[in-house]
Amino acid sequence: MKVLLIGSGGREHALAWKLAQSPLLETLYAAPGNPGIADCATLVALDIEDHAAVAAFCKENGVTFVVVGPEAPLVAGMADVLRTAGIDVFGPSAAAAQLEGSKGFTKDLCAKYDIPTGAYQRFTDAAAARAYVEREGAPIVIKADGLAAGKGVTVAMTLDEALAAVDDCFDGAFGAAGAEVVVEAFLDGEEASFFCLCDGVNALPLASAQDHKRVGDGDTGPNTGGMGAYSPAPVMTPDMVARTMKEIIEPTIRGMAADGHPFQGVLFAGLMITAKGPELIEYNVRFGDPECQVLMMRLESDLLPILHAAATGRLDTVSASWRDAPALTVVMASKGYPGAYEKNTPIRALPADDAASKVFHAGTALKDGQLVATGGRVLNVTAVAATVAEAQKAAYQALDQVEWDNGFCRRDIGWRAVAREKA
Ligand code: AMP
Ligand code: GLY
Repeated sequence: MKVLLIGSGGREHALAWKLAQSPLLETLYAAPGNPGIADCATLVALDIEDHAAVAAFCKENGVTFVVVGPEAPLVAGMADVLRTAGIDVFGPSAAAAQLEGSKGFTKDLCAKYDIPTGAYQRFTDAAAARAYVEREGAPIVIKADGLAAGKGVTVAMTLDEALAAVDDCFDGAFGAAGAEVVVEAFLDGEEASFFCLCDGVNALPLASAQDHKRVGDGDTGPNTGGMGAYSPAPVMTPDMVARTMKEIIEPTIRGMAADGHPFQGVLFAGLMITAKGPELIEYNVRFGDPECQVLMMRLESDLLPILHAAATGRLDTVSASWRDAPALTVVMASKGYPGAYEKNTPIRALPADDAASKVFHAGTALKDGQLVATGGRVLNVTAVAATVAEAQKAAYQALDQVEWDNGFCRRDIGWRAVAREKA
């Protein structure tokens, strides 16, 4: 099979690395890719916003299957264009991608199909939102409705903070994404990410992970796209997974199909495990980044046939097997991230990959033969071992061999799970 992978982050490097191991693969192309992805795929210079050009490339090169990594092309309708052109696609239609593209859409689906989530209201003007916030009191959560690169959410512990967040949204802090605001009840508990493949009708549960969203050690400082992750999430016990499937994922799949936009691709459920059980914080319609990196390190099965089965309505014919061993990844980011940072700083050395550790590239590029950092999140140093504590040790040992003056990382990725192992 000739496959095209869309994207250029650490998530896509992990997907490319795993797809490249498939005996079913003839050629893997990636657009736009990055220097890490170039080790396992042929990079093609395609404008991925030009969906017709992507379809034309597939037709000209005999590509029959496209795997879409990030959410933006999905929300923009890339999967619809490719499917119309007769190409199999892993990833939802624009209509189904609203699960990530509009928080209000997801909250309405939860209300209609009785899926547990925080009580909420949607607002299009500041005065009504402020009045609701004042009535409900803090803590309370304010969310810009649309895509805001993970930055549109304020978990307000005080009323003043909540009112300021409402004003920020309506004053345009998140552009068009903030023209509508969702105000949601604060959920108290431990967060987990849960991943499940869907083919419109059937579901194949994958695995769980825990992200570290704050930039600083001890979960301090501003939110980021994720500074590190491990899989599995200990809080996702077999019972909690079964409840999540029954109470959240299955009603979502049935509801999406009944409403005329069946979901096909990966459902990434952001969960809060509260005293009542799993509650949905949000859906994403693609793999998490960096959660995907730890999932791919643990996946024993061939990735290509299971993604293709999801894309072609045959998920009931495949299964996935996983290493029991936990995997952990540490993100190295450019100093200053998630704020402004310098670009094109040289990365002079990387550790060699081995069977138990692997460096995935995110925001890197080659400039005159020199590897440089071009993004906020730049490298994902990933390890798998018998315990989270050992995976953590191995990941940091590898990370300490990276020679990059402008990089930084958190030093405590996995702290919750390591503390649990010691208890
Ligand atoms: P989201 O972009 O919706 O995932 O929100 C970003 C982060 O805000 C989540 O990962 C949670 O840590 C936090 N958050 C979102 N909604 C809630 C909620 N209802 N209660 C508590 N924390 C929340
Ligand atoms: N790491 C969180 C995300 O991919 O949304």
